[in-house]
Amino acid sequence: MEIIHKEQKMQCKILFSEEQIKTRVREIAHAINKDLGSQEPLVILIVLNGAFIFAADLVRHLDMPTEIETIRLKSYEGTSSTGTVQLINSLPANLAGRNVLVIEDIVETGRTLAFLLNELKKQNVKSLKICSLLDKKELHESPIALDYIGFPIGKNFVIGYGLDLDEKYRNLPYLAELL
Ligand code: IMP
Ligand code: MG
Repeated sequence: MEIIHKEQKMQCKILFSEEQIKTRVREIAHAINKDLGSQEPLVILIVLNGAFIFAADLVRHLDMPTEIETIRLKSYEGTSSTGTVQLINSLPANLAGRNVLVIEDIVETGRTLAFLLNELKKQNVKSLKICSLLDKKELHESPIALDYIGFPIGKNFVIGYGLDLDEKYRNLPYLAELL
């Protein structure tokens, strides 16, 4: 398949269709409901921008009380990591003693997540779980314990369903890899 965007012409292959994503999102929500159901509200911490569509779909299948918070981190330019993580919007200040579920779009080197976990450590959260739609396992730089993974994938750059290439293609309803 070819996606054409003005000056850019790219070869892409659909990795996961809209239907496949829908099914998997429901399965993850089911697992989270089973594990994390409680009387206390679960704080859902959405890592922007990439996780906004995944999180919006996922939270609508959660059946426990929730509070939604966001944090904005940036580490990518084009199709490669800059190596440093920038905090664009700061962490909500009220996480001490709370049960927190982080929702990420994709884990590659793990630097973004390591940065976030370090920030969260300072806040003395009560419990912390991590959910990522995609996981590029082979590219982790250090061991990372993810609690919920949508799809493990290979090394190729992925766009769509919230994931961007220089802020474009987030609106594609499917996940595609650049060839
Ligand atoms: P890490 O810090 O290397 O784990 O990279 C994680 C961040 O880089 C993700 O939250 C994404 O924003 C971005 N990223 C990594 N791989 C991809 C990709 O294949 N497509 C789009 N964004 C990606
Ligand atoms: Mg991200």
